[in-house]
Amino acid sequence: MKLLITGGAGFIGSNFVHLVFNDHPGVSVVNVDSLTYAGNLENLKSVVNKPDYRFIKADIADRSAMEELFSAEQFDAVINFAAESHVDRSITEPEIFLKSNVFGTQVLLDMALKYKVDRFVQISTDEVYGSLPATGYFVETTPLAPNSPYSASKASADLLVRAYIHTFGLNAVITRCSNNYGPYQFPEKLIPLMITNALEAKQLPVYGDGMNVRDWLHVEDHCKAIWLVMEKGRTGEVYNIGGSNEWHNLDLVKELLTILNQPESLITYVKDRPGHDRRYAIDASKIRNELGWELKYDFPAGLRHTVQWYLDHRTWWERVKSGAYQEYYKKQYNL
Ligand code: NAD
Ligand code: DAU
Repeated sequence: MKLLITGGAGFIGSNFVHLVFNDHPGVSVVNVDSLTYAGNLENLKSVVNKPDYRFIKADIADRSAMEELFSAEQFDAVINFAAESHVDRSITEPEIFLKSNVFGTQVLLDMALKYKVDRFVQISTDEVYGSLPATGYFVETTPLAPNSPYSASKASADLLVRAYIHTFGLNAVITRCSNNYGPYQFPEKLIPLMITNALEAKQLPVYGDGMNVRDWLHVEDHCKAIWLVMEKGRTGEVYNIGGSNEWHNLDLVKELLTILNQPESLITYVKDRPGHDRRYAIDASKIRNELGWELKYDFPAGLRHTVQWYLDHRTWWERVKSGAYQEYYKKQYNL
């Protein structure tokens, strides 16, 4: 089987590449990534010399580059991870989110049709459903109500996938997952930002009252779910993926400080994210019941394992946090 993985140098994409080589020998992988600030080939050091692995630096929205690739290779499946993924950045610079997340997806859909790819998996997000009150869960039929430019771009891509299934008969499926955590996550996202700031004895910026709720899932559990959906998901269906693991941001930050043995005085309340969604929570019964997906990680163990990963990979995150990221950090937090 030959897979095209887009965005394979990012957090979830690189974890997925590792999962393929660890669990599915014989599968070959072409990884297309434009290497934005979030793409890091260091994440893939251990696979780079494998005969079944090839990296191509290209933008998924670059139609001629994609034509060249798809006309040269026959892919059995495309898994589209490539995207601008950070909500805060979408608030200050929405345009690139439309280019990569919407136009990029549309180019890939055209290529999948033209070159008769058997399966297209669109990696979407629970953020397309908007925000929940204190109770209730997102199910696959919850109406789309995206609130940020990021989630609007992801919802737009989902609708394009739906249209290509309906109009052209493309064999595609969509996954919508909750917040991931684990190794190789860029330290602009809550968990790695808090871990690495605490390790540098820097302030931990908590937005608003810290009472927003997210449903955390280990990235490996997410990747296993994606593999199952690719193999067995019903064409045209959406599958929610989540950890059944809701945390208020503030409690999670305090938990990380406990693990790291650092004082709560590092917590600093900062201006809230504009349009900040209050609560996400996923009902994952469809993927559990239909495809037999199960969680491997329990959260306390997964979180400790992740903290340990950042302790063991200080050079990785120090490099990632230097340079252009410093400028972004100053602008975003004024700290
Ligand atoms: P990430 O920002 O860590 O990685 C994104 C990768 O895509 C990077 O390697 C980047 O270089 C690449 N990329 C961006 N634009 C590109 C383009 N135009 N062409 C080619 N490559 C491009 O993101 P992530 O957290 O790994 O998220 C991966 C996917 O999963 C995204 O589609 C995101 O919306 C979705 N998702 C993420 C989460 C989460 O918690 N991180 C949860 C649910 C869904
Ligand atoms: O739900 C899935 C989504 O999860 C993915 O689609 C996105 O790609 C991914 O970035 C993530 O989005 P969030 O906005 O939920 O993640 P983030 O890590 O940015 O923030 C998590 C929560 O923590 C959110 O309520 C905002 C808050 N936060 C975040 C940062 C970066 C803070 O309080 N302080 C911060 O500095």
